[in-house]
Amino acid sequence: MSDQKAKRVLVTGSSQGIGKAIAAELCKAGYTVIVHGSRSMEKVRSVMNEIGAHEAVVADLSDMDEVRGLYEKTGDIDCLILNASVQYKETWDCISEEAMDKQITVNVKSTLTLIQLYAPAMKKNGFGRIITIGSVNQYRQHPELVLYSATKCAVMSLVKNIAKQLAPYGVTVNNVAPGAIATPRNADVYNDDEKRQAVEAVIPMGRFGTPEDCTGTVLMLCSDEGSYITGTDIIIDGGMRL
Ligand SMILES: NC(=O)c1ccc[n+]([C@@H]2O[C@H](COP(=O)([O-])OP(=O)(O)OC[C@H]3O[C@@H](n4cnc5c(N)ncnc54)[C@H](OP(=O)(O)O)[C@@H]3O)[C@@H](O)[C@H]2O)c1
Repeated sequence: MSDQKAKRVLVTGSSQGIGKAIAAELCKAGYTVIVHGSRSMEKVRSVMNEIGAHEAVVADLSDMDEVRGLYEKTGDIDCLILNASVQYKETWDCISEEAMDKQITVNVKSTLTLIQLYAPAMKKNGFGRIITIGSVNQYRQHPELVLYSATKCAVMSLVKNIAKQLAPYGVTVNNVAPGAIATPRNADVYNDDEKRQAVEAVIPMGRFGTPEDCTGTVLMLCSDEGSYITGTDIIIDGGMRL
């Protein structure tokens, strides 16, 4: 597989979990990687040094001024991996307005705004890669992830619409949808034998995925091999959606 050495990539939410694994894999492949986290520059710098990334930025994506500020800080890039998200586990009849606003802002509004900000240079250069990280919850129902699932479906709709419009400019837009992946987000489930086994029981492959299970697909989509793939969803879930 060839790669896009010297291309600059921003991975949002790469201070831990899936984003960190994606950023590390892109560093190994020779990309110039910008690591991002919500607030702690110390945490982001430490990850940058650990994985050999090149730049570190913080921006709280629940604050639209900070979303626009993220673009100001990084300038134009070649590949945008929109991985950061927030998730509140609440049943549909209890979701607070605050939790609705946070999930919609971080997961949907910031995603569209960052695409609006970064895409013009990609169009001008005739090359760009935009990858959103979705979820198996686009396909599976979960009683406590009603709004979170809706935000991931909304992003998939953005991906399909925008992919069609950016395709003539050599800019691809795709979604990668992980299933249950062992990250700090779900450590409480993963580290509890009973809860972990209940999740594993609905995964045909019988195990949680690792953050590294998600990296090869993102690498491929960023590379020349991904140049004819756009507007699609690649699901990495051990069969969990089936
Ligand atoms: N883990 C799973 O099983 C799973 C399954 C399906 C889909 N996904 C999706 O995969 C992606 C990564 O998940 P993960 O499990 O690796 O998540 P995670 O461990 O919770 O990490 C989330 C990342 O997003 C950043 N982030 C959170 N809130 C933010 C905010 N307001 N502003 C800016 N950045 C913020 C965090 O930064 P700080 O640490 O600096 O706060 C962190 O780097 C998400 O889009 C998630 O929805 C995960």
